Amino acid sequence: MAELVKLREQYPYRPNARKINAYEDADYWVGVNVKRVQDLWLDRSPPLNILDLGCGPGYFLHLCRMFGHEGLGLDPDDEPFFRGTTNLFGVSRVVARINAQTPLPDLGKKFDLVTAHRVCFHRVARDKNGEWLEWTEADWKFFINDVRTRFLKPDGRLLLEFNRRADGSSFFTSGLREFFESQGARIVRWKALLAAGPNQRPSFKLG
Ligand SMILES: C[S@@+](CC[C@H](N)C(=O)[O-])C[C@H]1O[C@@H](n2cnc3c(N)ncnc32)[C@H](O)[C@@H]1O
Repeated sequence: MAELVKLREQYPYRPNARKINAYEDADYWVGVNVKRVQDLWLDRSPPLNILDLGCGPGYFLHLCRMFGHEGLGLDPDDEPFFRGTTNLFGVSRVVARINAQTPLPDLGKKFDLVTAHRVCFHRVARDKNGEWLEWTEADWKFFINDVRTRFLKPDGRLLLEFNRRADGSSFFTSGLREFFESQGARIVRWKALLAAGPNQRPSFKLG
């Protein structure tokens, strides 16, 4: 993956950028994304239409395409490196930013699967102690309803994967776990899976 190293030289880290996001490390990120693909049984399912929110460098959709799926990414164009990698992988991407209480842009179709890995769009700003201010339950409710009604096919699924919090604890505080479960989510480790209907039980395994 010499091209990725070349791209990183072309678009160096911004000063103070966290080096854990070393997306030119293809071995590492392909490994992470193979696990994501396997968790959703995408290596064993018929071709699906997939929308990846906050697609970043595009590894997930790149791998999905290798397994026969069709993918579309959505990401703000903040990182020139991601522009380079999505181009390199041939991953189609809509440039947009997700905001609280705001419908996603119209994409003209519905999807079998909408994903968001290592979600960041719910972080609004840092408070004076450096802690993230996050979306409220009402903000999540709006987002989930928007995805369910406008972007998921009847058997579609929404997968949200979260980073740990700064202190190492789970994103799912007991309050958030209860909230996501009240929306019909199945929570496994750091992931929440939701079906298109609030009363449908979502399944990681297809078929
Ligand atoms: C931690 S990175 C994860 C990238 C990729 N999903 C992955 O797991 O490798 C978070 C991604 O969310 C994107 N992002 C941040 N704020 C966003 C927003 N408001 N709307 C959409 N995407 C956003 C960033 O550009 C970045 O690609």
